[in-house]
Amino acid sequence: MGMAKKIYCRTFQAVLKVGNYFLPYRIPEKLEDPGCIKELPQLIRSKGIKRVLLVTDEGLMNIGLPQILTQAMDEAGVAYTVFSDVLPNPTDENVEEGYKVFCRDGCDAIVAFGGGSPMDAAKGIAAKKAHPKKTVAQMQGLLKVHKRIVPFFAVPTTSGTGSEATVAAVITEAATHHKASINDTVLMPKYAVLDPELTKGLPPFVTATTGLDALCHAVESYTNGTYCTSLENDYARKAVRLIYDNLYAAYQDGSNMEARQAMQQAAFYAGRSFTRGCVGYVHAVGHTLSGLYGTPHGLAMGVILPHVMRQFGPAVYDRLADLADVCGIGSGSNEEKAEAFISWIEEMKEKMDIPVGFPDIKEEDIPQMIKWADKEANPLYPVPVIWENEDFEKLIATLRTAS
Ligand SMILES: NC(=O)c1ccc[n+]([C@@H]2O[C@H](COP(=O)([O-])OP(=O)(O)OC[C@H]3O[C@@H](n4cnc5c(N)ncnc54)[C@H](O)[C@@H]3O)[C@@H](O)[C@H]2O)c1
Ligand SMILES: [Fe+2]
Repeated sequence: MGMAKKIYCRTFQAVLKVGNYFLPYRIPEKLEDPGCIKELPQLIRSKGIKRVLLVTDEGLMNIGLPQILTQAMDEAGVAYTVFSDVLPNPTDENVEEGYKVFCRDGCDAIVAFGGGSPMDAAKGIAAKKAHPKKTVAQMQGLLKVHKRIVPFFAVPTTSGTGSEATVAAVITEAATHHKASINDTVLMPKYAVLDPELTKGLPPFVTATTGLDALCHAVESYTNGTYCTSLENDYARKAVRLIYDNLYAAYQDGSNMEARQAMQQAAFYAGRSFTRGCVGYVHAVGHTLSGLYGTPHGLAMGVILPHVMRQFGPAVYDRLADLADVCGIGSGSNEEKAEAFISWIEEMKEKMDIPVGFPDIKEEDIPQMIKWADKEANPLYPVPVIWENEDFEKLIATLRTAS
């Protein structure tokens, strides 16, 4: 079974690597710099759009962040409807509801405003608009939308998921708690608004966890390697260096605009890197925790990342040594540099009060977790080592006992 699975996965990946060259992975056009959100209404107007659906969440409405944009749209005469019922770890029900509002009010474009949750729900709504008769579950997987979506503007406010630069929309099926992605190049936002001022009020813990999510994207994409072109490799290295220099600074002082801007860029680069390069077992296992227990995505990523890299062992020494070099940490052999890189992640996590494990994983959930994680990752993600059930069991045992 082991050898057959490896051959199947590696063959699938070799074929997809070639196929990938023909897919239109774009780079979203960016507005950047502090305050650039105020330029968005003019951009929307210039596209002849009649009414945008602004997709966001209640938490953001309560702190008045989307109102910066709605006020600017009022001033510019851009018509809009706000849909703010997106939950963290958004569900197919959120998408269906948002789609109804989109149709009810005759919208013809979408602004996704928030963290990954509103951005992904918004992408789901756009996919629904392209295929009104399909359910979210029917569009999950690879290239199942395959039809132009409405003009889409992404405004990230967490500097984490990079959804503003990815082809993915991660949606949980409310009935089963199964979390899965719609992956299609048509879902790559046309425009990304990277305004660091929008992240000024992000609490330290969310700054830490979402920043670790971005780090995870860059590290998983880079250690996978297979699907990356020089652009994705370069973006992953850039993201890692920006995070090395700025995540802890942004955590310590949320009003440090330089650090906030660097983190917005890092999340974008990391997102654009993994959208072709793919993520790996950190995400595959982390998604099961969010689906089953509602664990915030970035928290799951931050906890799991060093354990997966350690378990990969020699297979990732060279790539992690590269990343250590990019940051100027560690010396000696590639093994020693890789260890220095993983230790840096662990030390930074400790300084930001991120736990080292998940003691609350329930014994009876483990078989389901393994099934979902294996299904998500294999054969699609070109992970450095292909895991069997016992490797997932080993990781989960580490997560349950790490202290
Ligand atoms: N599409 C992709 O490529 C991709 C990649 C990684 C993760 N994801 C998905 O993204 C989701 C997680 O997104 P997230 O980590 O950005 O969190 P999130 O969008 O769920 O937001 C977390 C919380 O932070 C609050 N918040 C957001 N911005 C804020 C700000 N500037 N100030 C104060 N509070 C703010 C929100 O109101 C929310 O309560 C998960 O569902 C995950 O699976 C998607
Ligand atoms: Fe992620």
